[in-house]
Amino acid sequence: MASPAAGEVVLIGSGLIGQSWAMLFASGGFKVKLYDIEQQQVTNALEKIRKEMKFLEESGCLKGSLSAEEQLSLISGCLNIQAAVEGAMHIQECVPENLELKKKIFAQLDQIIDDKVVLSSSTSCLLPSKLFAGLAHVKQCIVAHPVNPPYYVPLVELVPHPETAPSTVDRTYALMQKIGQSPVRVMKEIDGFALNRLQYAIISEAWRLVEEGIVSPSDLDLVMSDGLGMRYAFIGPLETMHLNAEGMLSYCDRYSEGMQRVLKTFGPIPDFSGATVEKVNQAMCVKVPNDPEHLAARRQWRDECLLRLAKLKRQMQSQ
Ligand code: NAI
Repeated sequence: MASPAAGEVVLIGSGLIGQSWAMLFASGGFKVKLYDIEQQQVTNALEKIRKEMKFLEESGCLKGSLSAEEQLSLISGCLNIQAAVEGAMHIQECVPENLELKKKIFAQLDQIIDDKVVLSSSTSCLLPSKLFAGLAHVKQCIVAHPVNPPYYVPLVELVPHPETAPSTVDRTYALMQKIGQSPVRVMKEIDGFALNRLQYAIISEAWRLVEEGIVSPSDLDLVMSDGLGMRYAFIGPLETMHLNAEGMLSYCDRYSEGMQRVLKTFGPIPDFSGATVEKVNQAMCVKVPNDPEHLAARRQWRDECLLRLAKLKRQMQSQ
């Protein structure tokens, strides 16, 4: 077996995101301790990881240079937080999205960690200034927000607390690259970070277009999945501008007036209720009935698509 990477990673919380992080860190050759308050949860998590890794290996999609068995041998469960964090170089918190719960856990970790380990949160939308307020080890704290499902969608938003040390950001950035993720630096905290701000801008305009009867809900989704989304899987909106004219300056020269004219017609923030929510819900349920079986099947199909897309992106990069 190739020698494991130096350093041990601890995951606090072994749910959906904790399991994904465990697989990613093991793919980079790191030893992983999966901590949770529930024994059964840890047992189930290890079992799910085993199944998932075997499936990935069989389908040729396992990340890293180690075999599934080698990666699995790097992951162990743990129910004692003190023992879990001892000697760790990176702690990734993955407990439910609840500020009080997370603050309680960070206060507990603050008492027992050394001055070197990075203390990172997977939070989707809690601000670092709230999460890490008053911690003695605040310089070592950062948010590393993954995107679901993290194994197939590599982006990780790194968001520092105002007092986070630059070396904490640099170390986390390097670690994310080492496990094959795509880190981005959000220079200072802002509600929604970068990804959700973009996502909410899209949802907002999508909602208004449906609300005003401009397009049907299913056609709206098609505008993204068979239109914008096709290129956004490979290049972002800024590069799109650059390529859609003779470079960025030419794009702005040609299209800024039109963009501003259209942007001025954007309506207010939707309230996501009333007749429009009924209309959107009805259309979505025709496509995917909202019972657990249909939703799970569609999620599985989505993940399969993402897995194949990830493969294609890898092939395109190596050309
Ligand atoms: P989950 O509910 O699947 O897992 C949470 C885990 O934390 C459970 O195993 C639970 O037993 C454990 N837990 C609860 N209290 C604990 C404690 N005091 N100490 C240790 N473990 C404890 O949640 P999920 O979806 O994995 O989310 C975790 C974090 O990741 C949240 O902050 C969420 O916002 C964030 N996130 C979630 C994404 C998603 O799509 N699910 C995407 C990106 C980030």
